[in-house]
Amino acid sequence: MDSVKSYSTPLETAKELADYIRKKINDSQDSFFMAVSGGSTPRMLFEALAGMNEQINWSNLQLYWVDERCVSPKHEESNYKMTKEALLDKVSIPTENIHRIHGELIEEEEALAYYTIMLKKLPQRVDVPVFDLVILGMGEDGHTASIFPTQMHLLTEQCPAAIGTKPHSGQKRITLTGPTIMEATELIFHVTGKSKAVVLNKILSRAENYKDYPSSWFLSHSNLSWFLDHDALPA
Ligand code: 6PG
Repeated sequence: MDSVKSYSTPLETAKELADYIRKKINDSQDSFFMAVSGGSTPRMLFEALAGMNEQINWSNLQLYWVDERCVSPKHEESNYKMTKEALLDKVSIPTENIHRIHGELIEEEEALAYYTIMLKKLPQRVDVPVFDLVILGMGEDGHTASIFPTQMHLLTEQCPAAIGTKPHSGQKRITLTGPTIMEATELIFHVTGKSKAVVLNKILSRAENYKDYPSSWFLSHSNLSWFLDHDALPA
């Protein structure tokens, strides 16, 4: 059964999740392989983690991304840029522990390069890289990572990383695929805001057309938690 935690504000949600992650990193006996999402929600989380700089053993953390927009790392839509500004520039994580997706490169080549690195550096289970923790967001359309409702095949794509396309804009993204996300030892959805409430409620209550939303695919994960605020899930 998944664990659903709902806090009064996005800031409280971010701080609680940051403290949870701090403990996981510090308690790790060896490298802690974590993949983070982008978008706007994680910024508060990263800022809360940056505030814990002195309390976290950053050399334990091997940081990866769930997905990246196919743009320069200096582009305003770059997930890496946001993470760098909110977290990486403020903490003492070793540079060699940061494994960004190179959104500026040819997407087919970078998707191959990224999953080659994951297969080389991460533990594996049946040829699938195993993260200790994957932190997912959820879009208003129920997408997660860069797996959109129009590309449900990425939920079963065997290559650990593939190319997604954001509907309407057509923006290409490199994304972890379903099997790699599902193989993570632990999965956390970090979702806040009223705009997510309708879809989130359908997914958590497994109601109506909830299976149309990529996020619902991960409800069967054996170690799944939801860090939410009261706007996304009213108390
Ligand atoms: C991305 C994310 C994506 C995000 C959701 C929610 O690159 O955009 O990985 O999956 O988690 O779109 O985005 P917000 O946090 O901005 O609502």
